[in-house]
Amino acid sequence: MAVRIRSPLRWVPLALLLAATAVLSGCLGMGEGPQTTIVPFSDHAQRIQDLYVLVFWMAAGVFVVVEAALVYATLRYRRRPDDVLPPQVHGNTRLEVAWTIAPAVVLFVIAIPTIQAIFAAATPPGSDGLEIVVTGHQWWWELEYPDAQVVTANEVHIPVGRPISFTLKSADVIHSFWVPRLGGKMDVVPGHTNHLYLTAYQAGTYLGQCVEFCGLQHANMKLRLIAHTPEEFDAWVQSQQAPPSQAAGKAQEGAQVFARSACVGCHTVAGTPAQGKIGPNLTHVGSRTSLAGAVLDNTPENLARWLRDPQEVKPGNQMPNLHLSDVDIEALVAYLESLK
Ligand code: CUA
Repeated sequence: MAVRIRSPLRWVPLALLLAATAVLSGCLGMGEGPQTTIVPFSDHAQRIQDLYVLVFWMAAGVFVVVEAALVYATLRYRRRPDDVLPPQVHGNTRLEVAWTIAPAVVLFVIAIPTIQAIFAAATPPGSDGLEIVVTGHQWWWELEYPDAQVVTANEVHIPVGRPISFTLKSADVIHSFWVPRLGGKMDVVPGHTNHLYLTAYQAGTYLGQCVEFCGLQHANMKLRLIAHTPEEFDAWVQSQQAPPSQAAGKAQEGAQVFARSACVGCHTVAGTPAQGKIGPNLTHVGSRTSLAGAVLDNTPENLARWLRDPQEVKPGNQMPNLHLSDVDIEALVAYLESLK
């Protein structure tokens, strides 16, 4: 008699399949990603997460009931050798009423908290709210704090525990504003103002990005949201309201290069003749952690690379190659990094 040897290796394909499924579905390290949507850090994200959990468990319950009935029916009523044709029936009022009412109840249970969450998300904060005007540009974010008269770019600073009212506008095409750990995305539409309200729970840096295709560099239209304690936030506002520090030495040379170059046509540095509005406001660019739509970390090397040829970094973006000399680039880097 042939004896079949069962090697433990026969499980390898199954193990590989399960591993591939886990990796491809993003189930490993669940909730640890910088842009996870399932670990909420704001009231807005919490509302969405609560709905998600409710719907998940309702769906899981439906799945178990349906699969159990299916497996039972398959085994219990499978065809046997001596079977004759069973009685043929048409319709069953009691069953049909039951399977109409049961899903209606499920949908009703989901609808009530969903409608509550929609209304809660659409309720603007009271007088304690902080308004931030977000304007989408190809391909960067302009951020204005109207009460504090502060304008910055690509890095949203907010205080924790205070309701934020984002007013969302576009300067050109449709974008979409999304910081996943703080909640749902909201479209940014030219000629139409949208609103997004949230209160962050916890200080930290949260990554976000544009989530509506807006042209060649859509994928490189990122942002960083920095949630501070209220004291830290007040200090940040004051630092942004202060005039930029006086340039000296190499930075002074850079200020002159800046003033005589095309830079001033597009960028603003408060307290100087540079009042352009096409590109990001650079008044305190040295205090930011990132450059170029939060694509590059703000280091002198990256800034020099950007100034040397912006089109090499983000092809198609609005900043032209000014063909600056290495000496001018070095001076400009010193100047811009000094703008704290
Ligand atoms: Cu802006 Cu995509």
